[in-house]
Amino acid sequence: MARMIRIFDTTLRDGEQSPGASMNLEEKLIVAKQLARLNVDIIEAGFAYSSPGDFEAIRRIAQEVEGPIICSLARARPEDVDRAWEALRGAPKIRIHTFISTSDIHLKHQFRLTRDQARERAVEMVQRARGYVEDVEFSPMDATRSDPKYLYEVLEAVITAGATTVNIPDTVGYAAPQEFGMLIRGIRENVSNIKQAIISVHCHNDLGVAVGNSLAAIGAGQVECTINGIGERAGNASLEEIVMGLRTRKDFYGADTQIQTEEILKSSRLVSNITGMVVQPNKAIVGANAFSHASGIHQDGLLKEKTTYEIMRPESIGLGKSTLVMGKLSGRHAFRQRLEELGYKMTDEELNKAFERFKRLADQKKEVYEEDLEVIISEELQTIPETYRLKSLHVESGTDTVPTAQIELEIDGKSSRQVGKGDGPVDAAYRTIAVMTETKSTLLTYVVKAITGGTDAQGEVMVKVEEGAKTVTGHGSDTDIIVASAKAYLNALNKLAYWKSRKDEKISYKEA
Ligand code: KIV
Ligand code: ZN
Repeated sequence: MARMIRIFDTTLRDGEQSPGASMNLEEKLIVAKQLARLNVDIIEAGFAYSSPGDFEAIRRIAQEVEGPIICSLARARPEDVDRAWEALRGAPKIRIHTFISTSDIHLKHQFRLTRDQARERAVEMVQRARGYVEDVEFSPMDATRSDPKYLYEVLEAVITAGATTVNIPDTVGYAAPQEFGMLIRGIRENVSNIKQAIISVHCHNDLGVAVGNSLAAIGAGQVECTINGIGERAGNASLEEIVMGLRTRKDFYGADTQIQTEEILKSSRLVSNITGMVVQPNKAIVGANAFSHASGIHQDGLLKEKTTYEIMRPESIGLGKSTLVMGKLSGRHAFRQRLEELGYKMTDEELNKAFERFKRLADQKKEVYEEDLEVIISEELQTIPETYRLKSLHVESGTDTVPTAQIELEIDGKSSRQVGKGDGPVDAAYRTIAVMTETKSTLLTYVVKAITGGTDAQGEVMVKVEEGAKTVTGHGSDTDIIVASAKAYLNALNKLAYWKSRKDEKISYKEA
């Protein structure tokens, strides 16, 4: 019998720390509900003390998402632990996750604490958290650069104080797989009360081995990871790689998870759509090329017997033929039913907006696929106020014309028109929008892709825009890629305008 490893998903906390990946409340709720369908064991929904936005997202997720344990991060400070509890209280399955560094580098230069002081703070905060909840996780930050003997002492002390999970982070992605495996073994052998807690691992990908490190330490009972591996800097260990690694090589690891793997691809697409973090085509498990065989020899083998070159079935991660879901004659009732089958429950107002959008799309494109619906939903459920709204767009371009865009926007409720030129149709549209909105932002990234096959497919555009220290992503989709491009740019500018109006800037978990 395979040992069951708990999957602790931190897409909404560590994942959201990826530059430009911030999500609003509705987006976080959509992702959390998908994580529940994926059947993760624990969702780290955010860091309650860091901002009112994070607090509210944790509160709503804890109240509304059924299945997984919902967790909030908290620095080892009383006000953080109290705030985590306030966000979680009243919900059925909750955990507080508190942490402090144990490496001398961090203690000396960042926290300005002695080892004894840090251990005492850890113990006090675990006790405080246990005063609120039964389920408390403690992380010694920068564990892999800590003196192992001191690390063992801290772990023993926090377990005595009531920690039920002890998580070992490779915070800066420094460890090598064998070394990390040995560290976990050392903890099992040297922390006298370790059997009273679950050991967890949390690896970052700075040297490209976050998944390798996590799997090398699979004697642990919990793995922390994110969808598509998003997270601080080079990211966290990717959930889909860990889960499929264990499932496919159960014979070797003797371990498995409870993950509903058929939901993996959908989760990956959803997080990519919402955050604007594009998945590289050659990414393991969820990349566009992960299951396509180009070489003639491989194709020949596959036609004769699938297992010659296929170690996992594409259907096992939810990759099948694009399912045709609806057409232009489908009604509102069928539309709602189809969305519910896909796992989306909407209010009447949300449904009306999404249905209108679906009808327009069905007029343009005859056949609407599941992927089209996912994009409509992730765009329509956003509640960023539309400071700038696209009313109309006409572009002229070709081999012997200077590309020109004629745009009408509604800006704060007032209509405004402008004509502008550029190096190509998208450039002309973007320059014109920049003049009309008087934006001071810089466009960092522009990516366009087709959502499904065929020349009538919707084009989906993702942009990354920066103003000062703030980076936001915008996305837009349409069967006309210039319109999709304008929508994506305006979506990013609306996010910037919203952010400026709220000034709800998060504090980072590294601000000790
Ligand atoms: O990487 C890290 O050390 C963390 C901790 C807060 C667990 O994310
Ligand atoms: Zn981390």
